[in-house]
Amino acid sequence: MKLWGGRFAKETDTLTDHFNSSISFDARLYKHDILGSIAHVAMLAKQNIISVDDGKLIEQGLLDLLSDIEKGTVVFNEKMEDIHMNIESLLIDRIGDVAKRMHTGRSRNDQVALDVRMYVRDEITELKTMLLSLMDTLVSIAAQHTATIMPGYTHLQRAQPITFGHHLMAYFEMLKRDYKRLTFTYTMTNALPLGSGALATTTYPLDRDFVAESLAFDSLCENSLDGVSDRDFCLDLLYTISTLMMHLSRFSEEIILWSSHEFRFIELDDAYSTGSSIMPQKKNPDIAELVRGKSGRVYGNLISLLTTMKGLPLAYNKDMQEDKERIFDSIDTLKMCLPIFNQMIKTMHVCDKNMYKAAAGGFTNATDAADYLVKKGLAFRDAHEVIGKLVLHCVTENISLEELPLEVYQSIHPIFEDDIYEAISLATCVNERQVKGGPSMQAVCSHIDKARVFLTQPE
Ligand code: ARG
Repeated sequence: MKLWGGRFAKETDTLTDHFNSSISFDARLYKHDILGSIAHVAMLAKQNIISVDDGKLIEQGLLDLLSDIEKGTVVFNEKMEDIHMNIESLLIDRIGDVAKRMHTGRSRNDQVALDVRMYVRDEITELKTMLLSLMDTLVSIAAQHTATIMPGYTHLQRAQPITFGHHLMAYFEMLKRDYKRLTFTYTMTNALPLGSGALATTTYPLDRDFVAESLAFDSLCENSLDGVSDRDFCLDLLYTISTLMMHLSRFSEEIILWSSHEFRFIELDDAYSTGSSIMPQKKNPDIAELVRGKSGRVYGNLISLLTTMKGLPLAYNKDMQEDKERIFDSIDTLKMCLPIFNQMIKTMHVCDKNMYKAAAGGFTNATDAADYLVKKGLAFRDAHEVIGKLVLHCVTENISLEELPLEVYQSIHPIFEDDIYEAISLATCVNERQVKGGPSMQAVCSHIDKARVFLTQPE
């Protein structure tokens, strides 16, 4: 019989059980459900709502059940609907009527909110560790490439020379913001909903502060209606994961471009590449493509839960059972992506000569050539035009600005001297950009130093 069967004259249809049930996916909340119940029961005993002896029996029963679930010897039942009622009914089977006191002063509405919050807290902690490890990899690779010149792009057209280290550190900054968003989400998650009851608390003298402290929540949900119906922390998490995946997806897109024959800036390690079943020559960047592809499902999860929530009257509605698959899927997806992405970039080979060649071939020093004229007294707009003409000439001649003879420079403007070649060498272009945040070795090294401080003491 159902735990709520008293009011019903007949059994639910099997179709109803199957449709209504969430055990197939919420079973993974078993540990948090049990730990939450133990804290609840300890509080009930402390407040004399149940006897201390009953409290102890229930706690022991729950601990035994937890260890059996972890051994894999417990089978959950779809007829018991969800993880909360499965655990309660298994406990009743095991220790008898005393277990029927466990749900005093509690509803599944505040119980599920508690379980999900506890689960999300743990997952955020794991995600942060994985993210830091990826950020650490980025810093190590960047540190090896503070002098590796490559073209920087706008509109995917070669723009100005930068270094590979500078480029990678851009991703470090994106991931640092993601890390901070995870911290924010953790704070939003870390409020105790238990005690909200079904929607309006209860008449038992619950001590919510005691439960909060035993489960390491740093605040209480301050309104019981909000306590059972708030899923903002899930949305914060889904948004944070979406943004993180968007960053990995942009990075993946670059990995895919860079490993193409057209760029040849990097070569992925064989262990993190795949072949073609028909074309023997192929070496494909499937991992990067899958990471890029999986960002789609993660965005879908965010939009899906936002849509689920948007029309719900206060307080709990069963629609909210749909939250779990969305957050589980996004968390699982990110937990798959982060370590493999980390390995993929850790092992990639950087073809620095090709990067240099591309930077040298695309007039990426044209701005610096114009700046050279400005330093000699020309107005920037005039300098821009002079260099534009020179570039046009080079394009027709199929040569670079460095290859252009001094006479040609001087024929366009007499102010040119032979120090122009030094001024437009790629190394000068990069290393003269000493503005904070720029590509010069000095600027990138000081960014790397700061990044290392962040990694030792993130927040
Ligand atoms: N399985 C439900 C969920 O995930 C638990 C809460 C059910 N509450 C209720 N009143 N039916 O949301």
